[in-house]
Amino acid sequence: MLRIIEVGPRDGLQNEKTPISTQAKLDFIRALGEARLKEIEATSFVSPKWVPQLGDAAELWPQLPPGPLYSALVPNTKGLESALAVGCERIAVFTAASDAFTMKNINKTVAESLDLFQEVISGFRAVHPSGWVRGYVSTAFECPYAGRVDPDQTVIVSQRLIEMGVNEVSIGDTIGAAATNEVHDLTKRLLEAISVEQIAYHFHDTRGTAIANVAAALEHGIDAFDSSAAGLGGCPYAPGAGGNLATEDLVYFLERNGVKTGIDLSKLSRASSVILKELGRPISSKAQAWNLATNLPA
Ligand code: HMG
Ligand code: MG
Repeated sequence: MLRIIEVGPRDGLQNEKTPISTQAKLDFIRALGEARLKEIEATSFVSPKWVPQLGDAAELWPQLPPGPLYSALVPNTKGLESALAVGCERIAVFTAASDAFTMKNINKTVAESLDLFQEVISGFRAVHPSGWVRGYVSTAFECPYAGRVDPDQTVIVSQRLIEMGVNEVSIGDTIGAAATNEVHDLTKRLLEAISVEQIAYHFHDTRGTAIANVAAALEHGIDAFDSSAAGLGGCPYAPGAGGNLATEDLVYFLERNGVKTGIDLSKLSRASSVILKELGRPISSKAQAWNLATNLPA
């Protein structure tokens, strides 16, 4: 079955200025689980000075409702210690195809970040030998600081992460700039270097191209996509990054095309409503708006 990795509680919230309580985050995550999202990126063990919204990761983690597989972003060995201390068995390290971006995001060049992540992965595997590690490659198509990215640079970083022992790379269109021709081109190049089951795509929908980009990736057999309930999301260190592809829009698109996701779209719409109410934000996902208007009791 196709995998959907729900990143709403992490990517969706990290850029939100309104402080969200730990309890509200847990209510959102519980509702996502009830919608049968099986993989949820719950938070980040990053510096609270850099991302204040996720500063409660250590309090949140032990209270996560059972059921889904949860993962968290880990930027360095300090973050790893915090993640291990609360029993996190699925981590994501995050670098990029552009030095200009990694300098702003994690204060390291790409090469420096890869050295550091080798240490993080080794430390993690020493405790959890079969634990799951994802490696993000941000700015895979375009960098907000350096412009268009050479696709071969994305391939080199992806291949390096796989050699370092990550289970999969998540290829990030961080500022939602890519169009389908670029997705076809990059995917072909990636598939010459790593295997199809090692690749997930992470599309932001800044310019409305995300669902078309999913369609392009599906043609190459990619079967793992990140998305965010209600289309929330953005990176504080990527000016111009719009929301992630909305999980509702992704699920509708896939199911309508006969691709089973196992996700309950009505319950997913309710999960999105839980967090949108906290944020004081109106519905923006097209599929959620339609679903709430037609399927749910008032
Ligand atoms: P730094 O300032 O270079 O780090 O930040 P440092 O080692 O000099 O430490 C500075 C202070 O932070 C120290 O505290 C450390 O203890 C503390 P002080 O002595 O000043 O009191 N610190 C920490 N505290 C808690 N947890 C930690 C930690 N590490 C240091 N893990 C650092 C380097 C990596 C920490 C910082 O740059 C950081 O946290 N960056 C995270 C940025 C981030 O989360 N960005 C968003 C996620 S990436 C994204 O959204 C893209 C993605 O969605 C894919 C896509 O769309 O493309 C994944
Ligand atoms: Mg993102």
